[in-house]
Amino acid sequence: MILITGGAGYIGAHVNKLLNNSGYETIVLDNLSKGHKSAVKWGDFVNADLSDSEKVREIFQDNDIEAVMHFAAFSSVAESVEEPEKYFKNNYENTLNLLKIMKEFRVRKFIFSSTAALYGIPKSIPINEDSELKPINPYGESKLMVENLLKDESDFGGLKYVSLRYFNAAGADLDCEIGEGHDPESHLIPLVLDAALGRRDSISIFGDDYSTPDGTCIRDYIHVNDLADAHLKALQYLEEPFNDSNIFNLGNGNGFSVKEVVDTCKKVTGIDFDVKIEERRPGDPDILIADSKKAEEILGWKPQVTELEDIVESAWNWHKKIHV
Ligand code: UFG
Repeated sequence: MILITGGAGYIGAHVNKLLNNSGYETIVLDNLSKGHKSAVKWGDFVNADLSDSEKVREIFQDNDIEAVMHFAAFSSVAESVEEPEKYFKNNYENTLNLLKIMKEFRVRKFIFSSTAALYGIPKSIPINEDSELKPINPYGESKLMVENLLKDESDFGGLKYVSLRYFNAAGADLDCEIGEGHDPESHLIPLVLDAALGRRDSISIFGDDYSTPDGTCIRDYIHVNDLADAHLKALQYLEEPFNDSNIFNLGNGNGFSVKEVVDTCKKVTGIDFDVKIEERRPGDPDILIADSKKAEEILGWKPQVTELEDIVESAWNWHKKIHV
């Protein structure tokens, strides 16, 4: 049995589906503060908060947990700047609690949702795992604290972990059973699709004076199913007794500018909408592109949905399904 914390959230739900389709049994723990119960279509479900040690212990007591995949976290950079303590509590302290309980029950395999936000403003592109870790916001800082803790637990406490540093997760399940839905929404692609559906009057581009060819920020959009596949491969990696703890970047290796994303959304939807150029959003690096060669070499992972059009199309199919 695999415990998936945050399995009612965007990425966790896609991983839950893939694990079940690959023959694993899962149990999802989620407090539904951000996730959706309707996204937990596979495995068992427990509505619990990671700070509730008794309830978390019960899960370990009642189930034969082989490994934990830990998605439960807050993930809005902007919110983390306004309420840092919330991020350190939920993202760091609750992980500390979870790891403590795992140790009590001798569960030693852990897969962690990490982030490109650890790299802050990178010195060179593409970014590999050895690049300097210098988060520029509390969200990234809280995730870095967990990575440091994992390293110590692995070096001295017998933990075997894989930390997966996601770049920009995007798109939706190709069968359209689950997808992205944050409230409030802050991510580019769903916001642009909202503009296409007339759920917003326009889309704002935050800054067009960055050091990029068209002046807008470049990001590496990685399809959520490809992220899910990396989790499955990370689990299989940890199941091999001689493999050590490890850290992998997950991106598709292609960068797309905000303007390219907006134009692709117009093309895929066939709908025109207003685009406004606004001030820069604080804390946005010019360019983030992953070097994911390590995951390719060691996990045998290779992203499958790499065309921006295909990523946007999957997101669009889901968006229409839930909003039309
Ligand atoms: N953007 C706009 N207009 C919008 C929303 C976003 O122009 O209405 C721009 C942003 O300024 C940025 C790009 O679109 O340049 C992508 O923004 P997102 O908010 O979709 O994603 P981020 O790159 O800011 O954040 C993502 C994850 C974070 C993670 C970060 C790591 O959502 O959890 O990558 O860099 F920390």
